[in-house]
Amino acid sequence: MSGLLEGKRILITGVITDSSIAFHTARVAQQQGAQVVLTGFGRLKLVERIAARLPEKAPVIELDVTNDQHLAGLADSVSEHVDGLDGVVHSIGYAPESCLGAEFMAAPWEDVSNTLQISAYSLNSLTRACLPLLGEGASVVGMDFDARVAWPAYDWMGVAKAALESTSRYLARELGPRGIRVNLVSAGPVRTMAAKSIPGFQQLEDTWGERAPLGWDVEDPEPVGRTVCTVLSDWLPKTTGSMIMTDGGFHALGA
Ligand SMILES: NC(=O)c1ccc[n+]([C@@H]2O[C@H](COP(=O)([O-])OP(=O)(O)OC[C@H]3O[C@@H](n4cnc5c(N)ncnc54)[C@H](O)[C@@H]3O)[C@@H](O)[C@H]2O)c1
Repeated sequence: MSGLLEGKRILITGVITDSSIAFHTARVAQQQGAQVVLTGFGRLKLVERIAARLPEKAPVIELDVTNDQHLAGLADSVSEHVDGLDGVVHSIGYAPESCLGAEFMAAPWEDVSNTLQISAYSLNSLTRACLPLLGEGASVVGMDFDARVAWPAYDWMGVAKAALESTSRYLARELGPRGIRVNLVSAGPVRTMAAKSIPGFQQLEDTWGERAPLGWDVEDPEPVGRTVCTVLSDWLPKTTGSMIMTDGGFHALGA
C-alpha cells in the first residue's frame, strides 16, 4: 500500500527536540512516503542529532527566518537535496519573556516586533524564499493556536498568531492562481520546548483534556503530525486560506 505522501518532497522547519511538532510531522511524513528536508535554527548540531532519530536520515539546512542571507540562499540549499518542493511546513514561534505571561500592556515594541517577525511575518518570508521550488499542487502549512479569542498568558504570541492567521489568508489569495494552497493547522496544547516557556500553560493543559469532546493528550503530538500531513497531501485539493482545527473539538464548546 502506498503512503499518503508517496513521492512528495517536503521542507519542514522547526525541529529542536524530539517533542517538537515539526519532528513528529517529519516522522509521519516519512512513514507516509515523503522525502523530508529539515531546517534548523542556531543549534544545528543538536538539530542534526534529533534528525538522526527520524525513521530515515534527513538533511538539515540552517535557517534563521530573520536572516535575509539565509532566506536568499534557501532555495539553492534545498535544491542540493531535492529538485523541487511539494510542501513546506512552517513550525516556528518565538516570544521573549515580556510578551508571554507578563504585564500585557507593558511589553516594549522591540520585543513585540520581534515576536511578530519570527512568529507571523516569517510565514511570508519562508514561502517567498521557497517559491522558486513550488509548483502547481504544492501545499504550505503553518502551525497555529486559535487566535480568535484571548487566552491566559499567551499575550503577544496570541496577537502574533492572529497576524499569522491573516497572513495565511493573504498568501492563499496571492498563491491560489498558481495552484498553491496555504493553510494553518490549529492545534491543542502539546508539551514542547516552546509550550513549556509559556507561564500558565499548565492551566490550559489541565482544562483541555477535560473539556475537549474527543479528549486531548498533551504528550501525544501524533494527531497534530497526521493532520499536517493530510493538509500536505493531495486529499484537500480545494482547501486554502483555512484554519484546520486539531484540538479534540475544544473550540466548538462555549462552556
Ligand atoms: N506546543 C503547542 O502547544 C502548540 C500548539 C499550537 C501551535 N503551536 C505552534 O507550533 C509551532 C512549533 O512549536 P512547538 O510547540 O513544536 O515548539 P518547539 O520549541 O519544538 O518549536 C519551535 C521552533 O521555532 C524555532 N525558531 C525560533 N526562532 C526561530 C527563528 N528565528 N528562525 C527559525 N526558527 C526559529 C525553534 O528553533 C524551534 O524549532 C509554533 O508555531 C507554535 O506556536 C504549538
